[in-house]
Amino acid sequence: MSANPIPLVDLVAQHRELEGELVAVFRRALATGGFVGGADVDGFEAEFAAFIGTASCVGVNSGTDALRFAYQALGVRTGDEVITVPNTFIATTEALTQAGATIRFVDVDPGTLTLDPGVLEAAITPRTVGIVPVHLYGQSADMDPILAIAAHHGLWVVEDAAQAHGAEYKGRRCGTLGRLAAFSLYPAKNLGALGEAGAVVGDDVGILESGRRLRQHGATRKYHHEMEGYNGRLDAMQAAFLRVKLRRLGEWNEARRRHAARYREALAGVGEVEPLSEAPYARHVYHLFVIRAERRDALQHALAQRGIATGVHYPVPLHLQPAYQHLRLGRGAFPVAERAADVILSLPMFPELTDGQVCRVVEAIRDFFRP
Ligand SMILES: Cc1ncc(COP(=O)(O)O)c(C=O)c1O
Repeated sequence: MSANPIPLVDLVAQHRELEGELVAVFRRALATGGFVGGADVDGFEAEFAAFIGTASCVGVNSGTDALRFAYQALGVRTGDEVITVPNTFIATTEALTQAGATIRFVDVDPGTLTLDPGVLEAAITPRTVGIVPVHLYGQSADMDPILAIAAHHGLWVVEDAAQAHGAEYKGRRCGTLGRLAAFSLYPAKNLGALGEAGAVVGDDVGILESGRRLRQHGATRKYHHEMEGYNGRLDAMQAAFLRVKLRRLGEWNEARRRHAARYREALAGVGEVEPLSEAPYARHVYHLFVIRAERRDALQHALAQRGIATGVHYPVPLHLQPAYQHLRLGRGAFPVAERAADVILSLPMFPELTDGQVCRVVEAIRDFFRP
């Protein structure tokens, strides 16, 4: 094991730089006793909506809650079908099932691994109500054809933007493209709290009001419940931490893009390795830098031996998970997503990554494939 391990994500480096400001937030919370709701939640919601470019934002407890409240605010009911992709984190789909909907998976584009608009129309049935493209790894799905098909069939689109804070599609920010968008603010995300957090954004203030009620036990006024909801609020200290970090998000995303460009350049000669492509329509923010590699598991092991942490996002497509056996979709149903799961590898990626660390990762990959 190398003396200086390289983590997949280095949250310690990020927070070291911000320690003074973050500790001040904690001290302020202790001094005021303001832990739930209040000015920092309102402030974060206004600032995040402004950053994304939507009329409104509802801060919630996690990205999973953001998806849950988005689906429920849009009125998803038992028997409704919703289309999404199998190569995502289960949060995208579990909230659909919990709302009573049936999941319809479609395969992904081989270059970007985001929803393939070419297979979308064939999956639509009279019971389809919505589409959930996932902006995977920090790159937008190809939204124009998806939005056109949705409009043609009268379907809503919820963007799963959990990995795409600041990403763009043809100059428009992810989060402004669908009816609603759900962001995770989990610590390891491009914008992450110091615990669980998430947000729903959109321009339809009426629907977002439903989300606001859902996060607060169905109440608009304390102890006055128009319906049943959840305890799904964004907590005040996380909102304040997020305000500190949101100010750096632009420069952090730029740093991620620089590291990605270095990886691409340095890996260009390594024939057995192919970084996923950055689509011409996209401004990718590299939540993850993902390559395809032959002998992926052996490569991952060799990198680990040299102190380099990597990840596989995700090793088993959702339709092959025990949780979804009832959908009766075996191997072969979504060949692009299935093949990708066997060869993808996420390399270390975080804003504070140094040139020296990128070089070490690339050298270790070269050494592995050296004849
Ligand atoms: C694509 C995707 N959707 C949804 C989520 C759920 O977010 P959270 O972990 O904040 O609940 C995540 C987080 O990992 C994600 O990557």
